[in-house]
Amino acid sequence: MSGQWWQRGVVYQVYPRSFGDSNGDGVGDLQGIRQRLDHLEWLDVDAVWLSPVFRSPMADFGYDVADYCDVDPLFGTLDDLDTLIADLHRRGMRLLLDFVPNHTSDQYPWFIDARSSRTAEHRDWYIWRDPAAGGGPPNAWQSAFLGSAWEWDGQTGQYYFHSFLKEQPDLDWTNPEVRAAMTDVLRFWFRRGVDGFRVDVVNLLAKGPELADATHPDPHDRWGDEPAIHPLMRELRVVADEFDDRVLIGEIWLPPAELVTFYGKELDELHLPFNFGLLELEQWQAQTVHEAIVAYEKALPPKAWPNWVLGNHDRRRLATRVGHAQARVAAMLLLTLRGTPTLYYGDEIGMVEVELPREVWRDPQGLRGGQTRDGCRTPMRWDDSALAGFTTGTPWLPLDQPAGTDVATRRDDPASMLSLYRALLRLRRAEPALNLGDWHDLGRAGSAIAYMRISGEPGGRRFLVCLNLAGEPSPLPEAATSLRGEIVVSTLPTQGRARFEGRRDLAADEGLVIRLD
Ligand code: NOJ
Repeated sequence: MSGQWWQRGVVYQVYPRSFGDSNGDGVGDLQGIRQRLDHLEWLDVDAVWLSPVFRSPMADFGYDVADYCDVDPLFGTLDDLDTLIADLHRRGMRLLLDFVPNHTSDQYPWFIDARSSRTAEHRDWYIWRDPAAGGGPPNAWQSAFLGSAWEWDGQTGQYYFHSFLKEQPDLDWTNPEVRAAMTDVLRFWFRRGVDGFRVDVVNLLAKGPELADATHPDPHDRWGDEPAIHPLMRELRVVADEFDDRVLIGEIWLPPAELVTFYGKELDELHLPFNFGLLELEQWQAQTVHEAIVAYEKALPPKAWPNWVLGNHDRRRLATRVGHAQARVAAMLLLTLRGTPTLYYGDEIGMVEVELPREVWRDPQGLRGGQTRDGCRTPMRWDDSALAGFTTGTPWLPLDQPAGTDVATRRDDPASMLSLYRALLRLRRAEPALNLGDWHDLGRAGSAIAYMRISGEPGGRRFLVCLNLAGEPSPLPEAATSLRGEIVVSTLPTQGRARFEGRRDLAADEGLVIRLD
C-alpha cells in the first residue's frame, strides 16, 4: 500500500464535551469516548481528532489551556488519555490532539507569572505594550470575539494582547523560549503515542512587524501574508519529523493561494493546512462548489496532498446549511474528492443545528454578540431514549434533534444517512482509486458536476462520480454521459445496484459513484 496513512485515511472530529458522558455530570469525557469506539471502528474512520481536553478554566471550552501537558479533570486523567490512545491503536485507529499554540489561558502559570511584574521571568512570553500616546489601547486591533484585542493590566501598567478572549492572552512566538517550550509540548505528546495534531489558528502566530495597525478588521485573515510565519511552521514540522508517521493539520482561514503556502516551498511545513473552501460557501450550488474545488486543486503545489472539511465545532451543522437531501450529496462529495476528508461527529447521522434560546447559550462568542456556536456542539445521539445514551445526568446542552436522529435507529436502516456514510467510507478504503487516485474534472452542467477518480496502479480502477447539487433534475456534464459502468453507491435510498449506461440526466438530489467498465 502506498501513501501515508493520513493521505489514505479519514479524520473524525470528536467534540469531547458532547460524545459520551461516563460519569453522569452531563459533560462528555475520555471514558465516554472509549465506550463508543465500536461506532468509530464500525463506521470505518482512521483517526480521531479530539478538540482540547487539557486543563482549562473553560472560558472558551478548552481553547483556553492552563496546562498543555495534563488532562482537565472534567474529561478524566492522563491515564485515561493513555488508555484511549492504546485502545485506538489496538483497533488500528490513530489519535490527533488539538494544539493551541497562539494563546494560553490567563490561568496558565506562565501568564500568572508574566502579569506579576514587568521583570517577571515569563513577562516577555506574552505581548505587552504601553498605552497609545493619547492614552487607551496601543492600536485598533480587534479580538475575534469582538472588542479591543488589548486588555489593560492595572498592576503592571501595560496592555496585553489577546486575539480571542481576554482570558486567552497571545504568546509571543518571536521569543525563542516560547518556541522551545511549545515544541517540547509537542514532543511530550508524540512520546506518549499521539499520532498528530490539529493546530489551532496557526496562521495567527506571526503578528507582523510591531503589530502594525490592521488593514483587515477580521483577525482570521489579518496575518495571512505575513512571511515570518513560515519559519515557525518549519520549526513545528521538524519536531513532527523527529517521530515516525506523525501529521500536522493546521487551522487556517485563508483563500487557496495563501492557504497553500502553509505546505511550505519544500513541503516542509504543515502536512495538511485545513481547506475550508466548501465549509465557507455561502451558496450550496453546482457552480460555487465546482469553482471551490477547481480553485483549490489549481492552487495546490505539485505533490501537496489536498484535504476537505464540511463541518466543525465553529460552523453551523451541514444538514442545516444544505438540507437533508443535499447533506447526502455532500457526504458523497466529501468522501470521493481527492484528499483527506475530516468528518464532524454527528454529521453521519444527519444531526442538525439546534436553535437554542439565549438563556441556554454557553459559547463566549455568542454571549459577546457574535453568532453562538452551541447549536453545532450539542451532544451526540446514540439511541432514541430521553437522554440519547449520551448521559445519565443533565446534558450540558439540549439533546434536541428530529426523531430518528440517532445511531441505533439509523444503523440498521439501509436507507439512512449513516448507512450511506458507512458505504462510502468502506468503498473509499477498499479502492485505491478513491483514496489515493487522481482526480479528473468532467465539468458542470445545470446543477450537476461530475469527475473521475483514477487509480495510478497498473490495471487500476476508474470511478465516475456524478452529483446533482440541487433538488430538481439536471442534465449531466456531457463528458460523463457516454461512460459505462456499475453504480456502486447512490444517494437515493431506493436505487439499488444498477448499470449506468449513457444516462443524460440526474434526478433531484441524486449522487452516484460508478465503477467504470
Ligand atoms: C479556533 C477554534 O476552532 C475555536 O473554537 C476557538 O474558539 C478559537 N480557535 C480560539 O482558540
